[in-house]
Amino acid sequence: MDTSDADRTLAELGAKPSPSEEHGLSLVRDEDRLIFSPGISTAGFAEIRMARQRLDRKVIATTIDEKGLAFAREIITSLGLQHQVETKSEDLRGEWKYPANYFDFIYARLVLHYLPVQDLEVVLKNFAKSLKPGGRIFVVVRSVKNVNPNDPHVRFDPHTKLTTYPHYDTNGGLISTNVRYFHTPESIKTHLETAGLNVGDIQEYQEQLYRDFMRKDMSPHTDHVIELVATKP
Ligand SMILES: C[S@@+](CC[C@H](N)C(=O)[O-])C[C@H]1O[C@@H](n2cnc3c(N)ncnc32)[C@H](O)[C@@H]1O
Repeated sequence: MDTSDADRTLAELGAKPSPSEEHGLSLVRDEDRLIFSPGISTAGFAEIRMARQRLDRKVIATTIDEKGLAFAREIITSLGLQHQVETKSEDLRGEWKYPANYFDFIYARLVLHYLPVQDLEVVLKNFAKSLKPGGRIFVVVRSVKNVNPNDPHVRFDPHTKLTTYPHYDTNGGLISTNVRYFHTPESIKTHLETAGLNVGDIQEYQEQLYRDFMRKDMSPHTDHVIELVATKP
C-alpha cells in the first residue's frame, strides 16, 4: 500500500496512525494472502488496510470484546470489505480450530500480553503450527519498563507471570487496576523460540497509545513496547 492509500483509509475513518501499527503493516508482503489478526484493531483499521492492499487477500480477525467486534464489523461492512475481513468472537485460550500450515502472516500487536504464561505457551505453539513454513508473526507486547515495582498497588504473580497494576486519577486516587504479562525482550523471545519460531531483530521503544476507541484522544503517557518479527523455519 502506498502512503496515499494508507492516509486515505485513516482519514476516511477519522483515525490517527500508531508507529507500531505502521511497522506491522509495512511488513505484510504482497504474497501474504491469508492473515490472522488476533485481537482486532480499533474499528478494524489495520485489517481494513491489509484487505485494501489486495482484493484476493483474506484477513481473519478475532476478539473477546463483543462491543469492539460489533463496532469493527459495522465499519468493515460499510466499506464493503466483509467478505475479505472475517470477524469473529473467539478466545485465543479456547480450542484451536485452524489447520496446520495455513496462515502467511500473523499480526499479534498488543494482544499477547493479556495471556498468562501457561496460555501464552499453548497459543504460540498453535500459531507456530498454523503458520506456513516461511510464514511470519509480528508481535508487539508491553514492556516491564511500564511497571513501577515500588508502587504499593503493583502485585506480581510468579505462577502466571501476570502483574496487577493501578490507574490513578490526577489527584492520585486509585481508579482501577488492570492485569498484564509485561515482557522483557528475553521473555518474549524465549517463548517464541520455545514454540519453534526463529526470532529476528527486537526493538524496544516508547509509543503513545490512545485512550479512546476511535483513537482521537491520545494518552498523556507513553508506553514502553517491545516489537519483533519471528519466522517459521
Ligand atoms: C489493545 S486491543 C487491540 C489490539 C490490536 N491488535 C491493535 O493493534 O490495535 C487488544 C485486543 O485483544 C483482545 N483480546 C484480549 N485477550 C484476548 C484473548 N484471550 N483472545 C482473543 N482476543 C483477546 C481484546 O479484546 C482487544 O480486542
